[in-house]
Amino acid sequence: MAVDLLLGLQWGDEGKGKIVDVLTSKYDIIARFQGGPNAGHTLVFNGKKHVLHTIPSGIFHDKAINLVGNGVVIDPVIFKGELDKLEAQHVNYRKSLLISRKAHIILPTHRLLDAASEASKGKAKIGSTLKGIGPTYMDKTGRNGIRVGDLEMSDWKKRYRALADKHESMIAFYNVDVQYNLEELEAEFFKAVEVLKSITFIDSEEYIYQAQKSGKTILAEGAQGSLLDIDFGTYPFVTSSNTTAAGACTGLGVSPNKIGDVFGIFKAYTTRVGSGPFPTELFDDNGATMSRVGNEFGATTGRPRRCGWLDLVALKYACQVNGVTRLMMMKGDVLSGFKTLKICTAYNYKGDVIAHLPYNIEPENVQPIYTEFKGWNEDLTEMTEASQLPQELNAYIEFLEKELEIPVAIVSVGPDRKQTIFRD
Ligand code: IMP
Repeated sequence: MAVDLLLGLQWGDEGKGKIVDVLTSKYDIIARFQGGPNAGHTLVFNGKKHVLHTIPSGIFHDKAINLVGNGVVIDPVIFKGELDKLEAQHVNYRKSLLISRKAHIILPTHRLLDAASEASKGKAKIGSTLKGIGPTYMDKTGRNGIRVGDLEMSDWKKRYRALADKHESMIAFYNVDVQYNLEELEAEFFKAVEVLKSITFIDSEEYIYQAQKSGKTILAEGAQGSLLDIDFGTYPFVTSSNTTAAGACTGLGVSPNKIGDVFGIFKAYTTRVGSGPFPTELFDDNGATMSRVGNEFGATTGRPRRCGWLDLVALKYACQVNGVTRLMMMKGDVLSGFKTLKICTAYNYKGDVIAHLPYNIEPENVQPIYTEFKGWNEDLTEMTEASQLPQELNAYIEFLEKELEIPVAIVSVGPDRKQTIFRD
């Protein structure tokens, strides 16, 4: 069976966790393939909110296997926290959670290095979640990292010490004020490593291969968004992994010719958390309304998200890079009550009108050109059928489908599992 992918098409926080949870009943295996605890995937069902950081969003379903793939970076301390929460809710994850031996481990000193690196950048800081993501991927590509499989080796603590010592000298080199007590951090870390070791570690590429061969259905769950991709995002204001479709091949060991559907998730407007260019960002009442109604605060850091109109130029780019086959529009309900809505359909770029995402989208180069749409007043949150959606919202969606040449299969009208409208 082919592996289906589910990815964010903007700067993250599109609502991937909710859709994975909604789709899980159709899949045997849900697999995370990149990123780490910088992600915050929010799921709401039975009146309760759940936030997952590293664990795939299929974990609340009895039958699905949840795999943390080789492309993911794992912080044992945060992972343990997630397991504790699952245990408190009597979720039996022992049989359904698997971890790739090739996934890399985030050490306490990776987090400290992240903080030191950001502090040293001053105003140019990336706005990292400070979870140690960048330094861990640096050690991976620098061939210094410690992997999950290493925890099964007798000498891993020796390797840990050498790497942590090196990190300490690097932190000192930054010459910034980062306060820490490594002994305390390490005590917490080693305790959490023991908990991590109680989960089943596997050779995940072999597992995925055999699962495909035996006809199992697999959904690969992306984290962050396409515009945060290390290659195709708004570099350097990006994360350190490939968040786009290709990342699923390297992050799970799936060959490109085995990818099936690519589900692209986007919000009906745009948000961004952290620094970096954002051409359609709003600084007026419209932006404030999106932020308030959409409750736009980071699920991992609690930081307020910047809000703006939908950027079709950027969305087209993300659809192209990922080969999206079906779109899923989130948070349409947040736009109820706007008299006029805008979609950015082109950019003024150094005096020219362009309809593609250029190398540099800093405000001095790029000004958005908008097409206006009539808004709607109806509350969407109780709607359950596509036939109930207001005509103005249908016009908004149909415009996007025509421009992107991809069907919008799902319209989400609220955070709950139940608030999901299937259009096909
Ligand atoms: P890092 O991946 O924590 O180093 O953060 C790099 C950039 O990506 C920052 O602008 C973060 O705010 C952003 N980022 C990382 N993870 C997420 C996410 O899951 N959702 C939204 N933004 C994210």
